Amino acid sequence: VVGDVRVPGDKSIGHRAVIFGSLATGTTIIDNFSFGEDNNSTVEIFRRLGVPILPTGPNRLQIHGVGTEGLRAPTGDLDCGNSGTTMRLLSGMLAGQPFESRLVGDESLSRRPMRRVIEPLRQMGAMIDAAREDNFPPLQIRGNTALQAIRYQLPVSSAQIKSCLLLAGMWAEGATQITDPGPSRDHTERMMQHFGVKLRRRGSSLVIEKPAPFEGREIDVPGDISSAAFFLALGAALPESELVVRRVGINATRTGVFDVMRQMGVELELLNVDESAGEPIADVLVRGSQLRGTTIEGEMVVRAIDEFPIICVLAAVARGTTRIRNAEELRVKESDRIAAMANELSGFGVPVEEHRDGLTIHGGNPLIGSRAQSYGDHRVAMSLAILGCLADGTTEIMNVDCIGTSFPTFRTILHELSR
Ligand code: S3P
Repeated sequence: VVGDVRVPGDKSIGHRAVIFGSLATGTTIIDNFSFGEDNNSTVEIFRRLGVPILPTGPNRLQIHGVGTEGLRAPTGDLDCGNSGTTMRLLSGMLAGQPFESRLVGDESLSRRPMRRVIEPLRQMGAMIDAAREDNFPPLQIRGNTALQAIRYQLPVSSAQIKSCLLLAGMWAEGATQITDPGPSRDHTERMMQHFGVKLRRRGSSLVIEKPAPFEGREIDVPGDISSAAFFLALGAALPESELVVRRVGINATRTGVFDVMRQMGVELELLNVDESAGEPIADVLVRGSQLRGTTIEGEMVVRAIDEFPIICVLAAVARGTTRIRNAEELRVKESDRIAAMANELSGFGVPVEEHRDGLTIHGGNPLIGSRAQSYGDHRVAMSLAILGCLADGTTEIMNVDCIGTSFPTFRTILHELSR
């Protein structure tokens, strides 16, 4: 592949831009917003909560913020679709509102654990109930305007739990202190700073209190590194490739995939480093490279958490063995990504061993086109499409509509690149 592409705006940052734009006063303009289904779910929920949000261009949104006291009781359920970020972040915000709400999701989201947000929110005085096993959605939330601040140590490194509690802390009495054991993505902290919401750091903890009113801002969302990763992997795996992905977010809490690729021998360069809405960005250049197996464990796992399906594809191509460890969180993503990738790689003729917390992949063997399953998981589907490009013969992937949750233009870009 030779060329120059742009990918849609970062999904994680898009959610936060809509949340803080809605809670600000006055107008917020979001550029390079990705209208993937997950981001759309967040937009739709804020509309239902009485926030006027208008698309004013192909990738542009205009929000007329209602302030932190201005949300309205919704009629009917709030549908998070496939989006765990929407459900977990908004549960924190809704816990402190003077009204009742119910968060629902699709089949996959209804199987994802919510106890991780329910427990600390209850400690703050939230009245929140899960439909099944005190863990699984839908979530019924009876708002409590007298939430109390807590000190909380996250049991796993997770930006979604951290952000849920930062949001709840904006409506709680006192100073909420949150400690994350690992380097989870810090987009909420950066977005708060961009909007002038005061957030203090105490050692390795974050401290949030009820903020003073804050005003709308302009945000140009960086390209999504998690979407860029699919094409960067294709470029790295195909000899003589030279591909640039423009204006990609390179926040250090997200660039684990670059470190993994470099460890595997990939030639990767960051050009035109710049900043946008408090987030670092760059053009990322990749060249076709000789890949070798590697070991991925420890804090690197959190910094690459959404990229393991495509990292598995690189491992299949790389010469030698790749070991992925400490990655048990992959079992509770949009699908069980450890089981999904172990099954599907085997279908392409890749020797693979599945472990409780990861995989061992023996790369460099011939890849045979396969009839593959997406498990309804957008990142599994796109990773298998890239693997299909690299395998001999035809690959057919079932159930690929899910790609629309994060990257509706994936197919178009892949076609253009492979022409
Ligand atoms: C996200 C955080 C991560 C990530 C998810 C998006 C976010 O989840 O996997 O795709 O936007 O905060 P966890 O916080 O559960 O690790």
